Amino acid sequence: MNDSKLDALFRPVAKRLHANHMAFLGIRNTMRLAHFYNRIKFRRQDNWRRRLYETQLDALLAENGPPTRPRIEMQDGWAIDASLSLPYLDRVLGDSEKIIAERAGIRRSEPGKYRSYFQDVWTPADLEKYPSFLDFTTSSDVLSTVSHYLRNIPTLSTTLPSGIRFVESNAAFDDQPGKPHDSQLYHIDYYSLPNVYVLVLLRDTTPEHGPWTFLPRSISEKAARRLNYWTKQHGYRLNDEQIYSEVDRKEVIEFCGKRGTVLFIESSGCFHYGSRNSVKPRFQLMLGYLGACRTDFSEAIMPWKVYPVREADSRLRKMVLNKSMLP
Ligand SMILES: [Fe+2]
Repeated sequence: MNDSKLDALFRPVAKRLHANHMAFLGIRNTMRLAHFYNRIKFRRQDNWRRRLYETQLDALLAENGPPTRPRIEMQDGWAIDASLSLPYLDRVLGDSEKIIAERAGIRRSEPGKYRSYFQDVWTPADLEKYPSFLDFTTSSDVLSTVSHYLRNIPTLSTTLPSGIRFVESNAAFDDQPGKPHDSQLYHIDYYSLPNVYVLVLLRDTTPEHGPWTFLPRSISEKAARRLNYWTKQHGYRLNDEQIYSEVDRKEVIEFCGKRGTVLFIESSGCFHYGSRNSVKPRFQLMLGYLGACRTDFSEAIMPWKVYPVREADSRLRKMVLNKSMLP
């Protein structure tokens, strides 16, 4: 944990405010308060990162290894790249097969565990054992898209969501199969504004795999406004009936495709759900990027993930892997 005196003092309150998806004050109010709190703690990092984004991004990308292609542009909160050509993707897919062969198909949780249908099989030791994942995560082509969307030099999330997840979704592990619950229901993430996910299909994915499913940002924004979402009127999750009372089902996008297809998405702007009835196991890499000032209290109440940084790493890679870094 980043054990500042401020956190130690504030932790009991933060836990209360964060609990049950920010139910005490409502999500929007809690996010405002959390942002204010995180500005006190991280404004120097945030200001520095924003300044570097505005003035030096091209130089930082070039130094990190020049982008191999024109930038993938996220539009209306998302972009899909099905070219299978992003740097390090081949190695990620090759290493993924080793991890799948070793760990897939085994339920690791006790009955009744939260989100049993969604298992993150990634371990901290994999960061060193399989360097392809961090190479992909910090590659200039990926970071260029994410940085431009955040208008900031991103950090890999230290808490929620985990910066790197290697997830098996499997209906066989689901304690309530056929009844969508938890993250199988529509919601918009509250961790940071904005928050970008880079999702990689590690195996070919079809509707039978319980694909990550979302609505574009403009549609989501309109529905959220009309439903008064993120207020105390609703919990974090909305059922299909609530969403489709405001949204035409034809707007829904399922992230299906060939192994190696990549989705860039603002999960803090687009309604989404996933892992619903994964009758065929779904394997997906999930990378979470955000700025230095989050809109939740997770860093005050949870242990931080630590990512390995080497002396020889580029400045950009160091900044992505070490949120606390300052000039
Ligand atoms: Fe989410």
